[in-house]
Amino acid sequence: MCGIVGYLGKKQACPILLNGLKRLEYRGYDSSGVALINGGLEIHKCKGKVSDLEAMIGKKNVVANMGIGHTRWATHGEANDPNAHPHTSNNGKLVIVHNGIIENSDSLKKLLLTKNYTFTSETDTEVLINFIEFVKKEEKVSLDQAVRIALNEVVGAYAIAVISLDDPELIVVARLGSPLVLGLGNNEFFIGSDATPFLDLTKKVIYLEDGEIAIISKNGISIRTIESDLPVDAVIHKLQMDLDSIEKGGYDHFMLKEIFEQPTSISNTISGRLNIKNCEVRISGLDEISDNLISADRIIIIGCGTSWHAGIVGEYLIEDLGRVPVEVEYASEFRYRNPIISSKDVVIAISQSGETADTLAAIKMAKSSGACVFGICNVAGSSIARESHAGAFTHAGPEIGVASTKAFTAQVTVLVMIALYLGRKKENLSEKRFREVAQELKMIPAKITSMLNLDPKIKTIAKLLDKATNALFLGRGFNFPVALEGALKLKEISYIHAEGYPAAEMKHGPIALIDENMPVIILAPGGGLYEKLLSNIQEVKARKGKVISITGCDQTEVKEFSDAVIEIPETIECLTPLLTTIPLQLLSYHVAVQRDCNVDQPRNLAKAVTVE
Ligand code: M6R
Repeated sequence: MCGIVGYLGKKQACPILLNGLKRLEYRGYDSSGVALINGGLEIHKCKGKVSDLEAMIGKKNVVANMGIGHTRWATHGEANDPNAHPHTSNNGKLVIVHNGIIENSDSLKKLLLTKNYTFTSETDTEVLINFIEFVKKEEKVSLDQAVRIALNEVVGAYAIAVISLDDPELIVVARLGSPLVLGLGNNEFFIGSDATPFLDLTKKVIYLEDGEIAIISKNGISIRTIESDLPVDAVIHKLQMDLDSIEKGGYDHFMLKEIFEQPTSISNTISGRLNIKNCEVRISGLDEISDNLISADRIIIIGCGTSWHAGIVGEYLIEDLGRVPVEVEYASEFRYRNPIISSKDVVIAISQSGETADTLAAIKMAKSSGACVFGICNVAGSSIARESHAGAFTHAGPEIGVASTKAFTAQVTVLVMIALYLGRKKENLSEKRFREVAQELKMIPAKITSMLNLDPKIKTIAKLLDKATNALFLGRGFNFPVALEGALKLKEISYIHAEGYPAAEMKHGPIALIDENMPVIILAPGGGLYEKLLSNIQEVKARKGKVISITGCDQTEVKEFSDAVIEIPETIECLTPLLTTIPLQLLSYHVAVQRDCNVDQPRNLAKAVTVE
């Protein structure tokens, strides 16, 4: 993970770097640092948040027009000052920031030790910068050539930015497997792991591709391939994002803002894509692979974390409405288990960030086996969006809180539309049913708006959970994956151990855990399995468990047996996940706040998991 930034131009670099790092903190926040050159080399770094770094720099007059910076999510070595980036080479002249993992750092380090190199950190990054210095000295080459030659010996993933005291007007960047975006201003250049660090400074960007190195000087940017040193024609893109979309807008936390944005984000996901009159879904990416989709033997959905949960909802939707067999896999398992994949498979890869390393690797594997890959991503220009044969953006807007909320509902919304598309194309779905689902989907944003009014009530209900050490989430059918998602939300931001289960599985083990200290959150929004869920609630009550039910307005029996009830508006069963998710997000949020947890930046986590 980690976030990297850079600046070269006429302005003061330090505030630009610090501001950029704050916007990238969602990628890691164990430690941070900056390196600036102006005559000499100035490095400031420390354990903790960017605000700690800012306080450390304080009122020091750091004057420099170029520099690089880093916010870290620890991989090699604990989060402490020596392991914080930037790292310097032994001659004190070369400096690097790095996002990724150098897998052969041990063997490179052994080689460098024989050449009397010394190390002050436990990081793979310090090995890399010393290896670059070694190559530069041995081969007697320029900085960019040294970086390029060194990277040809590296195994692993990286996005790096390197500067040198001997070349004070040059930044060399390169990427393989970790994202890197270059911003083009007016005689000034910006570097970021994504475009947010310089969103207010330029809208012109170049997405560096895997295997490319860019040499940034005051005269411009030159891009070459790392392997063969061949020139690359850069494509300049125009950013659509604006600054407001990445700020808190009056909310206490990004997570809360993003929960409340869901009526808008889901409307944006649907916008222009549903033609109810003609019973059509208009997603150009689906049309691009229409033949593959129609003739596919099966669909394999891959993702991690919340995106994997959305994938399970997608499985239920696509099998129900589209009548195509679906398998859902953790990308991390799929890529390593020698699965049987063929050109008759369509793989749907789901990722909010579009940068998750396991999902990206699984896509590459599926493509090499001949499968057609469709990406569902939130971030335009991301690696997964570009690696997929075709895709659909979720249009949820930037999601900054580490806990995924609006991205999940946007992913599910896209999956509803894919299921509708398949149902019609394969003639498995009647026009009547298409219209029923599509019309109801369009009503979901308004129904979520009405549910958000329950926030004060949910805040009170959260008190039933804030002293708990464990919690159980139960759901069935379309709401089984929502139970998994509810449990993940609670554990990641409030550190309460939580499990999601299909409700019927409770009696096969988890029921042993139930006593008066165990809150059980039961998703019983009505529908075919309602009676069975009612029995589950009674089973929990019989063992003195505390029941919080998420249920429909008409389900009076549930209310009788529950300690707390949150009602959702009426909708059709297959769309209930879009509603039942909302109170679970709010519940986790309030529990975390009541426990004084860092909601937007929970410990040990990062927003984009760009390492294995
Ligand atoms: O960016 P992605 O959707 O690929 O990320 C996948 C997971 O890392 C992510 O959903 C994670 O589980 C969230 N923190 C959950 O809230």
